[in-house]
Amino acid sequence: MNTMRIRRVRSKLKKSAAIDKHAGLKVFQPETTSFSPENLYQMLYKHTMLYIKPEGGTGGAGIIRVGLINHSASYLLQKDTFSERWDQFDQLYGRLTHFIGKKKYLIQQGIHLLTHNKRPLDLRIMVQRNKGDAWEMTGMLARVAAPRKVVTNYHRGGTLHQVDSVLKQYADPNRLQELKKQLEQNALLTAKHLNKHFPTLIELGIDIGLDKQLKPWILEVNTQPDKNIFRFHANKKLYSKMMSYVRYQVLKRTIKKSQFNPVPQPLSKAKLNPTAAKNVARARPALSPAPPVPTPLLIRKD
Ligand SMILES: Nc1ncnc2c1ncn2[C@@H]1O[C@H](COP(=O)(O)OP(=O)(O)O)[C@@H](O)[C@H]1O
Ligand SMILES: [Mg+2]
Repeated sequence: MNTMRIRRVRSKLKKSAAIDKHAGLKVFQPETTSFSPENLYQMLYKHTMLYIKPEGGTGGAGIIRVGLINHSASYLLQKDTFSERWDQFDQLYGRLTHFIGKKKYLIQQGIHLLTHNKRPLDLRIMVQRNKGDAWEMTGMLARVAAPRKVVTNYHRGGTLHQVDSVLKQYADPNRLQELKKQLEQNALLTAKHLNKHFPTLIELGIDIGLDKQLKPWILEVNTQPDKNIFRFHANKKLYSKMMSYVRYQVLKRTIKKSQFNPVPQPLSKAKLNPTAAKNVARARPALSPAPPVPTPLLIRKD
């Protein structure tokens, strides 16, 4: 594998398994497992509400919420803007497999998120490697779900808000400061820890849910997050700062890679002397393709 390439880690299960390896982060992650009828049954009766997500999904697509209702006598299924009630577990499972088909899905403990105007809200936190190569939290925004939706994603009609404006109803200024500090520490810890498992990371967009006790929950970690939403941030300089960090890191890796793969010299001398040929081969790393053009990084989004 070429370790210089900036790689997007798509698998939500791989990322959540890596987070679970850090005891200090595991406590902030909802329990997550692969989709199967046994896991669905066990998780549903343990947590009473679950999110069921495509393993490599983005933008809130294909996400289904299920829960126990009527004192556990029925099951509620919510997707997009519709909801259905089922009386039998088999009916619920059958309906889910209709949506899921052959795709790989996961099951996650559902968090009863704080709301804004009765709609669920969560936070998007950006952490990036800065120009000194240290991890830095570069921005935070709140997202509020569209009416009747169970996901807050901008691409599913969610709206973007300044964090203070949606959280001030839940916390006084001191508590808000304390919470933001905790979020920053957790975000930096998440980046440093995940970077050990996925060495090519240069930025993360972390989706954080908050429950009624203001406990932060890591809902998902994006490895190539959309920076465009930060154009809506009150600080108009944030977006260009984020982009300059990305450009710096991409350029740095591109340069580093080309240094590792110098243009090969002619072997004329070595050809005449078999021992010299061996030494030349040892001294020079194997040829590899030209460095990747960095533009896709700026276009692809989660
Ligand atoms: N475990 C959960 N509990 C509560 N809400 C969740 C949970 N997981 C996801 N959500 C909601 O669904 C949205 C999309 O889920 P996410 O895992 O971020 O998938 P995607 O990659 O499609 O954005 C989240 O931003 C959040 O609003
Ligand atoms: Mg997300």
